[in-house]
Amino acid sequence: MDIEAQKRAAAARAVEFVRSGMRLGLGTGSTARHFVELLAERVRGGLTVVAVPTSETTRRDAERLGVPLTTLDETPALDLTVDGADEIAPDLSLIKGGGGALLREKIVASASARMVVIADESKWVPMLGRFPLPIEVMPFGLATTLRAVEAAAAAAGAPGPVALRCDKDGHAFVTDSGHWIVDAALGRIADPADLGKRLAAIAGVVEHGLFVGLAKTAVIAGSAGVRVIERP
Ligand code: A5P
Repeated sequence: MDIEAQKRAAAARAVEFVRSGMRLGLGTGSTARHFVELLAERVRGGLTVVAVPTSETTRRDAERLGVPLTTLDETPALDLTVDGADEIAPDLSLIKGGGGALLREKIVASASARMVVIADESKWVPMLGRFPLPIEVMPFGLATTLRAVEAAAAAAGAPGPVALRCDKDGHAFVTDSGHWIVDAALGRIADPADLGKRLAAIAGVVEHGLFVGLAKTAVIAGSAGVRVIERP
């Protein structure tokens, strides 16, 4: 199986968790897009669900494919969110935000009774940190926030440089909520919960891409097949 086939296989397994009547959260990214496509097939076959998208991109995809949408204001409690990740550790702590949707992804996951993370096996890691940690920040006071983020990472035992994410023209990447993203190249994050608390305490940080204690289930597809892992 190539990587796209692995993503599709993980998404297909996660669709099996969906029951008629469920209120769903729809993730963002290339793996989550497979889930939205496969869910849409089930909807066309008669499955009844409503869903909250975690990005404008996912909203457009779901609308185009005919998945009925709602908002967290109309539907504040969800049954199940299915989303991808940039890294997944054995305790099912995650790094998310490679696509810049981490803020809405975390709000939607937090509103869900169950979060299922889906991925190809390249995302499964013994320890988080090789993927640069995305952190959503306010544009105001960026230099001060960068210094505070670097200090927080060092205090959490994960020192490393932090850089503003830019597009190909050199402009700051702007999130769906109008903020900027900084990426922290930390290498090894031994204690994601500790680092997450330190980052959340910084005034200019809107949200960080460490998802700790949110995913209950991981569906990992690899060359040997699909594994379903429950949080220990
Ligand atoms: C979006 O902001 C991210 O959190 C994605 O879920 C993550 O980057 C995984 O994306 P892929 O499925 O495209 O690898």
